[in-house]
Amino acid sequence: MSSSSEAELLHTFKGIPFTTRSSPELLKSLDTFDAREDDVLLVSYPKSGTHWLAGVLAKLYNTQVTITSPIEFGDISRLEELNKLSSKRIIPTHLDYNMLPPNFKKKKCKMIYISRNPKDTAVSMFHYYRDNPNLPTVDTWTAFFDLFLKGNVVCGSWFDHFLSWEEHEDENNILFLFYEDMKKVVKEICLFLSLNVSDNDIQDICRKSSFLEMKNDTEKENSDPSHTVCALTSNRKLIFRKGAVGDWKNYFTPKQNIRFQEIFNEKMKLSKMADSFIY
Ligand code: A3P
Repeated sequence: MSSSSEAELLHTFKGIPFTTRSSPELLKSLDTFDAREDDVLLVSYPKSGTHWLAGVLAKLYNTQVTITSPIEFGDISRLEELNKLSSKRIIPTHLDYNMLPPNFKKKKCKMIYISRNPKDTAVSMFHYYRDNPNLPTVDTWTAFFDLFLKGNVVCGSWFDHFLSWEEHEDENNILFLFYEDMKKVVKEICLFLSLNVSDNDIQDICRKSSFLEMKNDTEKENSDPSHTVCALTSNRKLIFRKGAVGDWKNYFTPKQNIRFQEIFNEKMKLSKMADSFIY
């Protein structure tokens, strides 16, 4: 377990906690980042299935794309490296909609937002906090539960993140996906990205993107381009933990569930997609 304090590992930019792996200079420069019309953004709050989606996209595009590390990850020299890439870019990000480099919006780049029941996301992130030396120490689930609900965790409040993106749900360059639907979404992704993939290949990609296949892929260290998508660790073994829907029931006390649900109902009262998080 990490023994580092929050002060050492996190800093705040525009009110949102980032790890020191995202330099303030880089974050400040995002506003002028030059997007390309054919960029695809892979957007998520951490622990929502980012690696799964990156694995699927890597298989769908075969070798014709570069999946980069998250745009907000690294120091300022990264932006130059991204500019130099000659291939089509799939760019992951955990940024709030409001912090997204404006050029992605102006150029109407395609963006895929994957979300997951925030209760399972919280449990997944709790394990990540415990096991990942790049994140602050957290001793108990109870302590983490409070941090999560207050948005005092890396990337800030799940609610603010989701709602900032949901506001743009109607825009036809944004596709919303849910972790819990992952088994049936590959066809939907192909349609959205105008990819011509045969039914046989789709079946094959689904099989190769199962939790166990992707977890075992980590043993072939870095053999899958989706390994680049994580800003918070380069250790893939930390990512593929359990891959379950509803694991939160093993962690939330009945009292915590009531408290979470009250906050969920209040924060999500204007959300049209709130009912998607029933699992
Ligand atoms: P758990 O910690 O609940 O197991 P991210 O990639 O956004 O960091 O999300 C990580 C979560 O997605 C982890 O959840 C991980 O196990 C799960 N995951 C990764 N690949 C998966 C897959 N192919 N199928 C199901 N879950 C997957």
